[in-house]
Amino acid sequence: MLELRSVDAGYGTFQALFGINLDVRAGEAVGVIGPNGAGKTTLMRVISGLIRPTKGTISMEGRDVVATAAHRIVDLGIAHVPENRRLFPRLTVDDNLKMGAYMPGARAKYSERLEFVFDLFPRMKERRSQMAGTLSGGEQQMCAIGRALMSDPKLLLLDEPSAGLAPVVVQQVFELVKRIRSGGLTVLIVEQNVQQVLKVVDRAYLLEAGTIRASGTSEEMLSTDTIKQAYLGV
Ligand SMILES: Nc1ncnc2c1ncn2[C@@H]1O[C@H](COP(=O)(O)OP(=O)(O)OP(=O)(O)O)[C@@H](O)[C@H]1O
Ligand SMILES: [Mg+2]
Repeated sequence: MLELRSVDAGYGTFQALFGINLDVRAGEAVGVIGPNGAGKTTLMRVISGLIRPTKGTISMEGRDVVATAAHRIVDLGIAHVPENRRLFPRLTVDDNLKMGAYMPGARAKYSERLEFVFDLFPRMKERRSQMAGTLSGGEQQMCAIGRALMSDPKLLLLDEPSAGLAPVVVQQVFELVKRIRSGGLTVLIVEQNVQQVLKVVDRAYLLEAGTIRASGTSEEMLSTDTIKQAYLGV
C-alpha cells in the first residue's frame, strides 16, 4: 500500500532521514520505534507531505505521493495524527472533527463519518460542544484520532499517541489502536512505548539517527539483542 524507496529528507541543510526503505501492506499495523531525535516524526511528515523528500520515492497504492500537492494527499487516503495532537483548543470537539472532513469527498460523507467517530468514541459525543483545549489528555487524543478518521482514510499515521498520558490511559490508547485496526484500517504508528507497541503491530522498524537499523515482525524485534538492551531494559 505504502512504499518508500531510498528516501532522504531534512530541514534546510540538515539531513534527518537517510535512504529510508519502508513498506506498509494493506491491513497491516506497522510500528516505528527509536530514540528521541531519530527522525520518526520527520518520517511521518514526509509521508503526509508536510515536508518533501530531497531524494527517493514515496507511493501510496501506486500513486506518487511526492508529486501530489500537500493538501491533496488526504485524497490518496492518508491521514496524519501529529505529535502533540495539534487540536484547535478554542474550537469545540464538533468543530475540530469538522476540520478533518474539509475535502469535498469527505464533506459529502460528513454525517456518516461523524457517526462512525462517535461510535468509536462515545465520549466525544458526550463532549461534542466542549472546547478541545479543556479535554483531558486521553480525550484530546481521541479527538485528534477522530479528526483524522473523518476523512475516511485507508492509512492512519499515528505519531506517539500515548505520549504524556497516564499508564491506564496509555493502555486505552493501545486498545483503541487494536480496534481501529480490526476495523480494517492500515496503521503506521510511531511509539516510544516499545513494549506496548510491539503487542499491537505486526511488524516494526527501528530508526536510529535517520537510518533504519533493524526491521522485522514484532516477535523478531522482541528477540533482537539491541532492542532488548536499549529499549526494553532486559
Ligand atoms: N523544523 C525543524 N527544523 C530543523 N530541524 C528539525 C526540525 N524538526 C526536527 N528537526 C531535527 O530533525 C531531527 C529528527 O527529528 P524528529 O522530530 O523527526 O525526531 P523524532 O524521532 O520524532 O524524536 P522524538 O522521539 O523526540 O519525537 C532532530 O535532530 C531534530 O532536531
Ligand atoms: Mg517525534
